Amino acid sequence: MEAQKVTASNAAPAPEQSPTPGRDSLSITDNRTGKKYEIPIKNNTIRALDLRQIKSNDKDFGLISYDPAFTNTASCESRITYIDGDAGILRYRGYPIEELAEKSTYLETAYLILYGELPTRDQLNDWQYHITHHTFIHESIKKFLDGFHYDAHPMGMLISTVAALSTFYPDAKDIFNPESRKKQTYRLIGKMPTLSAFAYRHSLGMPFAYPDNELTYGANFLNMLFRTTELKYRANPTLERALDILFILHADHEQNCSSTAMRAVGSSHVDPYSAIAAATAALYGPLHGGANEAVLRMLYEIGSVAKVPEYIKSVKAGERLLMGFGHRVYKNYDPRARICKHIAYEVFDVMGRNPMIDIALECERIALEDDYFVKRRLYPNVDFYTGLIYQSMGFPVTMFPVLFAIPRTSGWIAQWDEMLLDPEQKISRPRQVYLGADKRPYLPIEQR
Ligand code: ACO
Repeated sequence: MEAQKVTASNAAPAPEQSPTPGRDSLSITDNRTGKKYEIPIKNNTIRALDLRQIKSNDKDFGLISYDPAFTNTASCESRITYIDGDAGILRYRGYPIEELAEKSTYLETAYLILYGELPTRDQLNDWQYHITHHTFIHESIKKFLDGFHYDAHPMGMLISTVAALSTFYPDAKDIFNPESRKKQTYRLIGKMPTLSAFAYRHSLGMPFAYPDNELTYGANFLNMLFRTTELKYRANPTLERALDILFILHADHEQNCSSTAMRAVGSSHVDPYSAIAAATAALYGPLHGGANEAVLRMLYEIGSVAKVPEYIKSVKAGERLLMGFGHRVYKNYDPRARICKHIAYEVFDVMGRNPMIDIALECERIALEDDYFVKRRLYPNVDFYTGLIYQSMGFPVTMFPVLFAIPRTSGWIAQWDEMLLDPEQKISRPRQVYLGADKRPYLPIEQR
């Protein structure tokens, strides 16, 4: 990594020192002291640490930047996923999401995300073989699942059981060993569907259906979820492909809340199962991966197309959110939402039209024309249509965030890998602006 050169001038500003236009640097004048600083700009970014030299006096700690929720802070350099939120562009390793959704499979895309290049035929076969042969889970995991209440949320069960995997694979602590990381990658991508399906079967009180190595990744997941008495589960090809495309769309999304959790927790050098449990927990929230579940609950609450205007009115009054709308990064139609809308109709052709689609379309129609949403640049995000698809495919609402966590596992591992191998990264540890009480003496309880 190229060293960053920072120069600080204590001299009074002289006209000849004024910056020449075209230089990749930022000139700062600290009006408290009159000192001038020149800070390099690289990749359209300044280094926050370069601000530290700016001090009002010798005892000053130095200037830090305040950025609650990291709305304007890059926490890493990354080569995995590119998003242009204004233009509605999403690419994995340079490949447009639309092309991957049309031509690739989830496992091929996962390989691309993790290793940077599309696999050759042999690499893909090898990759699929290893993932397929790591789908079984230790029988003891079933005992944990049995301990959960019949109505336990499957995300809670997934978070707990994936964390529990770390106790079965102590070799996973060897995080700087590439072979170990590769093995945990196979295990995690292979076992997430099994843990998820077993959690679902537990909530139904149904016996667990074991993985079938002859099936594709998606078909095997459907097999573990829905198989009953048939000797061999056969997935409907349209549903199998729809699920695979949804998995592609959810595989990574750069530095979102859960990837940031993965990187931050992983930066303490904990094993990947514990870090994935943290990332899954971050995904569970209704502002993130839990939004698909929240969208469907919202559509039920609205109840009919006629009631959409009334609901939108309450959104505009600030009483609630239009779930599935808005995005920290996209200020345009989320490209994934466009693909999801298309898949929804393919699934409806097989499973019948989901009546909630009319309410969703009306919400979208009104919102896209309404000043409140237009001004704030609020568009449908990936979660707006996925819930309708999942429901039509027979998934209960509580499984929706789980269906997000399974494919996002590849993205989380790729982000974790990149973080571990980046020589600039350290344990994640932000600063704070302390505004609490100054030093004060302890008051005995009788005097309070
Ligand atoms: N409905 C109504 N108003 C909204 C919505 C919404 N869904 N989203 C944002 N706004 C409004 C905010 O109230 C705010 O208005 P103000 O300027 O008058 O205060 C303005 O739009 C900007 O919103 P912020 O909350 O500042 O945007 P932020 O980037 O912090 O939040 C988020 C992004 C969390 C996704 C937000 O849009 C939201 O809560 N959406 C609903 C939940 C959702 O669909 N989450 C899924 C995101 S996609 C994913 O994680 C896979």
